[in-house]
Amino acid sequence: MAQLWGGRFTKETDQLVYNFNASITFDQKFFKQDIKGSIAHAKMLGKQSIISNDEMESIIKGLQSIYSDVNEGKLEITSKYEDIHSFVEANLIDRIGDAGKKLHTGRSRNDQVALDMRLYVRDEISEIEEELLLLIKELHKIMKDNLYTFMPGFTHLQKAQPVTFAHHVGAYLEMFKRDLSRMQDIYSRMNYCPLGAGALAGTTYPLDREYTASLLDFNGPTLNSMDSVSDRDYVIELLSALSTIQMHLSRFSEEIIIWNSNEYQFVELDDAYSTGSSIMPQKKNPDIAELVRGKCGRVYGALTSMLTTMKGIPLAYNKDMQEDKELTFDAIDTVKGCIMLFRGMISTMKLNKETMERSAMNGFTNATDAADYLVKKGVPFRDAHGIIGRLVLYCIDKDKSIDQLSLEELKEIDPTFENDIYDAISLKTCVDKRITLGAPGPSVMQQVIDKNEAYIASLTLDKANY
Ligand code: ARG
Repeated sequence: MAQLWGGRFTKETDQLVYNFNASITFDQKFFKQDIKGSIAHAKMLGKQSIISNDEMESIIKGLQSIYSDVNEGKLEITSKYEDIHSFVEANLIDRIGDAGKKLHTGRSRNDQVALDMRLYVRDEISEIEEELLLLIKELHKIMKDNLYTFMPGFTHLQKAQPVTFAHHVGAYLEMFKRDLSRMQDIYSRMNYCPLGAGALAGTTYPLDREYTASLLDFNGPTLNSMDSVSDRDYVIELLSALSTIQMHLSRFSEEIIIWNSNEYQFVELDDAYSTGSSIMPQKKNPDIAELVRGKCGRVYGALTSMLTTMKGIPLAYNKDMQEDKELTFDAIDTVKGCIMLFRGMISTMKLNKETMERSAMNGFTNATDAADYLVKKGVPFRDAHGIIGRLVLYCIDKDKSIDQLSLEELKEIDPTFENDIYDAISLKTCVDKRITLGAPGPSVMQQVIDKNEAYIASLTLDKANY
C-alpha cells in the first residue's frame, strides 16, 4: 500500500478498504494528462518563485523521465499505489528526492483529478469529432453516388412515398452533423482550468492561475474553487451527447438489419462485416449492426449512473465523484469504436439498387402524386384523395399497381384521367418533382450536397488551425 497520507493514522488501512478505495486500476488511463498537468503546475510554481528554478527543472525532468519510462515499458504502473497521482508523485520523489516533495505545493488531489479528467475528456472529444467527421465524409460520398438510387420512403414502416438512397442517408448525415456540433459546444463550455482550486478553497500561495490555464491551452481559469473541484457537468453533457450518437447509430443499424434481411434484400453486408452461425450453414448475420444497436444500453446506463451519482453530493469534493471515471471511459471507448466500425460496415455494404427501385414502384408510393395529378387538373385535393383511395382499392382487388391500369380502367374511376397520368406517376417524376429544399429531388439534393461539401471543408480547415 503506497499512500500520500498516513501521518494522522495509527493503524494500517484494511486491505479490502484499500482495494475498495483505490482507483489506480482505472485512473491510470489519464497518466499522460496527469504528467502534463503536473509539468504545468511545476512551471507555474517556478515562475512565481514558490519553488526555485532548479527545483522546477528537476521536477520537470523527473516527470518527463517517468513518462518515457512508462511508455517504453521500463516502469510499470501497479496497484501498489492508491491512484495515478500517488504513483507519479512517489516515483518522482524516488528519482529526484526532496524537490519532488514540493510538486504538490498549492495543489490538492481534488483539483488535480478535476484537471486530469478535463484534460482527458477534452482530448477524447477531439478524437470523437475526428471519427464523426470521417463518418460524415463517408455518408457524403454515398449521397453523391446515389442521387438516382430510388427506394421507398416509409412512415410506420409502411411504404409511403418514393425517395432516394441519397436522401435517406442524408437524414443521418444531418444527425451526425448535430452530434459533431454538440461535441464542439461541450468542448468550449468545459475548456476552463480548475487547477489552483486546491482542496476546495484555493490556497494561500501566490499561484498564477491564468498562467497555468494558458500553458494547458484552456480559455482561462475556472472562477469558483468549490465548483472547480466538484463540477462534473461536462461529463454529464458528454454522456448525454454520446448517448445521442449511439441512438443515431442504433437507428441506422436497425434499418440496415431490416434492409439486409432476406425479405428486403436492399443491401448486402460485406463478408468482412458479417458473421456465421455455428449450426445453420446458410446464415450470414449482421452481428456488427446488432452490437452497435445493443451497446446503447451501456452508454445510456453511463448517463443514468452519472446523473444519479451526482444528485445528492453536497459541495465540494466527495469520493462519490471517483465513480465518474470507469463509466465515462467505457462510454467514450464504446461510442468511438462503434462509429469506426459502423463506417467500415456501410462503406463496404453493397446496394441492390434494382431491388430497392422495384420495391419503390409497388406499394402505391405514387398515390400522393396521382392525387396531385388530379389537383393540377382542377379537382379539389380532398376529392382527389377520395378518388385515389378508391383507385387503390380497385388495384388491390386486381393485384395491379396504378400504372398497370389501362386508361379505360382509370377513366371509369374518374374521367379526369388522361394519357399523361403515366408520366406524372412514374418513379422518376415522383422523385424529380420533389424540389422543396430538403426533399429528395436530385436538383435540390445537389444544393444540399454542395452545402455539406462546404461544411466538411470548413471543419477540415478548423482542424488544420489546431
Ligand atoms: N481518485 C480520486 C478521484 O478520482 C482522486 C481524488 C482524491 N481526493 C480525495 N480527497 N480523496 O476522485
